[in-house]
Amino acid sequence: MPINAVKGTHDLFAAEADGYAYIQNLFRAVAKQYGYRQIETPILEHTEVFTRSTGEASDVVRKEMYTFLDKANRSVTLRPEGTAGVIRSIVEHKLYATSDLPLKVFYAGPVFRYERPQLGRYRQFIQAGVEAVGVDSPRLDAECIALAMRALAYLGFKNLSVKVNTLGDAESRLAYKEALKAYFADKIDGMCEDCHQRLLLNPMRILDCKVPEDQEIAKGAPKMKDYLSLEASKRFYETLSIINDLGIEYEIDDGLVRGLDYYGHIVFEVHAKSATGKDYGALLGGGHYDGMLKEFGGPEEIDHGVGFACGVERIYSLMRDNEMLEGIDDGLDIYAMPLGAEVEQELNVLCENIRDLGYSVEMPMKGGKLGSMFKKAERSGAKFALILGSDELERGVVQLKNLESKTQEEVRIDDLPAYLDREFGEGEGECDHDHGDGHCCHDRDENEEEGHHCYHHHHHEEE
Ligand code: HAM
Repeated sequence: MPINAVKGTHDLFAAEADGYAYIQNLFRAVAKQYGYRQIETPILEHTEVFTRSTGEASDVVRKEMYTFLDKANRSVTLRPEGTAGVIRSIVEHKLYATSDLPLKVFYAGPVFRYERPQLGRYRQFIQAGVEAVGVDSPRLDAECIALAMRALAYLGFKNLSVKVNTLGDAESRLAYKEALKAYFADKIDGMCEDCHQRLLLNPMRILDCKVPEDQEIAKGAPKMKDYLSLEASKRFYETLSIINDLGIEYEIDDGLVRGLDYYGHIVFEVHAKSATGKDYGALLGGGHYDGMLKEFGGPEEIDHGVGFACGVERIYSLMRDNEMLEGIDDGLDIYAMPLGAEVEQELNVLCENIRDLGYSVEMPMKGGKLGSMFKKAERSGAKFALILGSDELERGVVQLKNLESKTQEEVRIDDLPAYLDREFGEGEGECDHDHGDGHCCHDRDENEEEGHHCYHHHHHEEE
């Protein structure tokens, strides 16, 4: 019996894996533009991390967690989302005390939900997200949305608008939940088993029910906006005005309640359909939350946060369907070919020297006929084929064939650095990669540790 991947999980290989890495790196680069720093927390957490914060009323916690007892009978869970673990970590290490506030972090990694696998829905998927913690500010909330929209724009998404709603403050939500209870009281008998539970735990969750008949009933339910306190409503409009000033298109969706329990004030989601008409679900979602640090024993005075997470699978699928991935994986720079076994060792060393210059180069493990090596060169996506025979070796030269223009030149090995510099056009330190709106994510030098790499030209960074 062959063994396949677990249902709802998937493998990534080559160009696809590159695409996923590209999306995550781009989110990281944009997060850095806003002063966010990387955080990595374990995939495995004590189950309580999620029951306390993500919410006992949410479907995610009630039905979708990969929870099991470890060998010492402790209940542990594969994280179903990133926020709870991040807040647990911030409180555990008192990061709020040693960093300026807001503390802004970025993360990306696998999360697990036991959902029914379908289009855009996996059991293991990758989330890239941010959290900004410790300050209660509409400007910070707006910034988080701006960051999300900028990342999507850099990826090449055009004309996206963000759906926003407010879930108000605690007082507003309490009033709203009472109104929902009253509304659903005489309707609940005809509704699904889950909705019975939701009515008891958190009636707002009913608005998220996927059963069509229940959705029909929910359409007539009271709206949050009619139960907002004056304060909460002022705050919502203040946030919207900042979002507006930042030039972000938004749409108020008063039915947007989000699937996790921790939100208050602004919540948001971005949706897009592919060119082929497919709907993979929300590309990203997030919002403001208060009171989560307290759940882990953190200080109440700074108990505020805002964040979002995107589904990397969904973004990748849309980009693939919309043909937005071209040029992301620009293949090898050079494919090197030995003419005869006697030059293989020298060519192997030359390849290493070329890599020292920052270019990518590969040679076959076993030389062969020139024609079959050229086929491999074509398949590798290389810009140049480099040919070395014993005659070339003796004269200290190589043949370089440009596989795009099909022109061939003899180049002195000593002149290779200058030649490649010129050909790859990177001597001026410019990056010709455009993220769809005239910007390269690396125009602005924000990526110190990584040098000045653009994801599309990972070689040769001397500027
Ligand atoms: P969420 O809306 O549950 O929010 O998930 C965020 C994103 O993850 C979704 O918009 C979607 O793109 C993706 N996603 C969710 N479920 C699946 C699935 N089964 N398969 C593929 N992709 C999926 C959160 O998780 C919050 N922690 C976001 C947040 C951060 N709020 C504040 N800070």
